[in-house]
Amino acid sequence: MGESHTRGPHLDPISGRLQGRAALITGGGSGIGRAAAELFARQGAQVAVAEIRPELGRSAVDAIEAQGGTAFFVQTDVTQEASVQEAVNATVSRFGKLDLLFNCAGGSSPQDALVTDVSMSVWDATISLDLKGTFLCCRYALPHMIEAGGGAVVNMSSGAALRGSSPAHVYTAAKGAIVSLTRALAGAYARHNIRVNAICSGRVNTERVRTSYGIPGQAGNVPDPMNVDEQVKAYPFWFGEPEDMANIALFLASDDARMITGAAIPADGGRSSY
Ligand SMILES: NC(=O)c1ccc[n+]([C@@H]2O[C@H](COP(=O)([O-])OP(=O)(O)OC[C@H]3O[C@@H](n4cnc5c(N)ncnc54)[C@H](O)[C@@H]3O)[C@@H](O)[C@H]2O)c1
Repeated sequence: MGESHTRGPHLDPISGRLQGRAALITGGGSGIGRAAAELFARQGAQVAVAEIRPELGRSAVDAIEAQGGTAFFVQTDVTQEASVQEAVNATVSRFGKLDLLFNCAGGSSPQDALVTDVSMSVWDATISLDLKGTFLCCRYALPHMIEAGGGAVVNMSSGAALRGSSPAHVYTAAKGAIVSLTRALAGAYARHNIRVNAICSGRVNTERVRTSYGIPGQAGNVPDPMNVDEQVKAYPFWFGEPEDMANIALFLASDDARMITGAAIPADGGRSSY
């Protein structure tokens, strides 16, 4: 078995796969978004870290600059149209263009539940963050990508979008809609040389998930309806690190994926397949 089968993150040693590209990454201050911001910058992209929490956004930029990369922080609330428009405009004025968008801000609520039980305030917050946020960022970024002559969008969905059994019904609906939106945008913008793909992730070891839902061998603060230890027994590749998702986002954003658009990549260790 080769290196790629081990559990730890695998960082591609080849540099420059995004050389000269201008990227905007939402939720770039922590977790998967931060890993992607650092990786994209190491691969030569200039990165706008669009993040709601300034301390996280600034710390991501500091880390990128310490590695010799180029980045800036733009405080952004992806649920607010004016904020998204400002973030996109700030990126274009800083870098002169926009080539890549990684819609990563998002997440589920521990209060999410069955359709008959869930509070409608959870519906509003989750749909707003996961679906509306993704929609708004595409709305304002795509015209600039057309102007740049092409580009790539990567949307963060979830393995929950690919199976009907998740008990978090609002999150499942939001991430499913992101897959549908991804396909619709891929069809509409291919003629502008823009690719749009989604990542349907398994469980990833981020602070938010560790604290709330738990990781193998370490329970979180709220009851985990999936039972992470049982899942990992059945699907050993279901659990990964932020860098695992960042590597997939890098591939989809790079020219290596130039024939791939409208895809929802099941990066869930096979859980949606068997
Ligand atoms: N971690 C997982 O197990 C997992 C699994 C499947 C899908 N995902 C998806 O991957 C994405 C990232 O997940 P993560 O675990 O890295 O989350 P995270 O909480 O570590 O990172 C999300 C970042 O987004 C920021 N953010 C929150 N609301 C925002 C807003 N309104 N505007 C701008 N930024 C905002 C947060 O401050 C945070 O820095 C999410 O879309 C999530 O649904 C994660």
